[in-house]
Parts: sequence; structure tokens; C-alpha cells
Amino acid sequence: MKRVVILASGTGTNAENIIKYFRNNDLIVVVHVLSNKKEAKVLDKATQLKVNSFSFNREFYKSNELLNWLKLNTDYIILAGFLWKIPTGIIESFPAKIINIHPALLPKYGGKGMYGMHVHNAVVNNKEKTSGITIHYVNENYDEGAIIFQKSFEVLVGDTAEDVAKKIHTLEQENFPKIIEKVILENG
Ligand code: GRF
Repeated sequence: MKRVVILASGTGTNAENIIKYFRNNDLIVVVHVLSNKKEAKVLDKATQLKVNSFSFNREFYKSNELLNWLKLNTDYIILAGFLWKIPTGIIESFPAKIINIHPALLPKYGGKGMYGMHVHNAVVNNKEKTSGITIHYVNENYDEGAIIFQKSFEVLVGDTAEDVAKKIHTLEQENFPKIIEKVILENG
């Protein structure tokens, strides 16, 4: 059985979807949801779905405490709207075991500060003809790890950033759990 821990900072629609997807899976289990924000909605979602969760502060994050906890408790780390940079110690201890989803077609519209509506506003303001999602491994730099999967859609003339956000959401819901499953089954 491969254990998965989800790290998230916000609403948690991806976390919820992942938890539901793996609920009756014999090979993969979501064991915990962790957040850097104690008031994050994702923690309520985890409770409702009967998945253990806790929040942590920067001290816990920067020290070896989180790393040690992760080493004991998980095989894979899934970032689902998690906004802090992952410490080097965690990256080195989990090679090709940390997966992020980004709401744009990397390498475009990635990097520090490029999250949520900031991404979609930039896409619309620059009159991009396409946008999409990128699922990738995590390395020391924001949004620069090896790409695992991308899926794009057409940005139509007149589409607002909110329209783009909705299309992204649909693609995330359709693809993220499936790609996580594929990676884990292939990599072990
Ligand atoms: C998603 O759009 C994801 O691509 C990005 O952060 C957002 C998280 O949304 N990394 P939610 O908290 O899962 O609803």
C-alpha cells in the first residue's frame, strides 16, 4: 500500500477530489492532509471525509520536524494548492515522490506569485490563445520540476479570467487523481 499525504493551503477542491478518488483503492491511500493555514477550508474538508489532518507553522516547516514526520508517514507528497516553497531536505528525501499541479501551461506563467487568479488574469491580459494544467515533479525552484502531464484548452475571445479558472478547474478534477495513480503505479 502506497501512502499519500496532501499539502494544501486553500479551499481544497483538488484535495477533496483526490481523497474521494482513492477511497476504495487497494494500492493507494490518502493518509493525511496538512496545511500551513489553520483556518484553511481544506482542513474542514479532510475532517468531513474522515481523513486525518493538521496545520503547522513556519517553525515546524523549516525545522526537521515536518521532514521527520513525512519520512515516517508517507511515500508520496501531493501539493494541491500549497503555496510555500518545499524545503531542500524534503526534496532530497523524496526524489520523484513530490507532485504538484499548476493551473497554467508551464514553463509559462509559473514562479513565485503565480498562483490562483494571478495566473488566469495574466493569461487573459496577454491574450493567450491557450491555457491549461501542468502536473509536475517538484524541485528546489517554484514550478520548474520535470513535467509529467499537460492538458490545454482554447481561450476564447471574450473569455474572462473567471471563465479560464472554471475550465482549469474542470481539467484538474478530471486529470489530477488519475495522473497521481499512474505515477505511483509506474514508479512504485
Ligand atoms: C488549483 O488551481 C491548483 O492548480 C493550484 O492551486 C489551486 C488549488 O485549488 N496549484 P483548490 O484549493 O484545490 O481548490
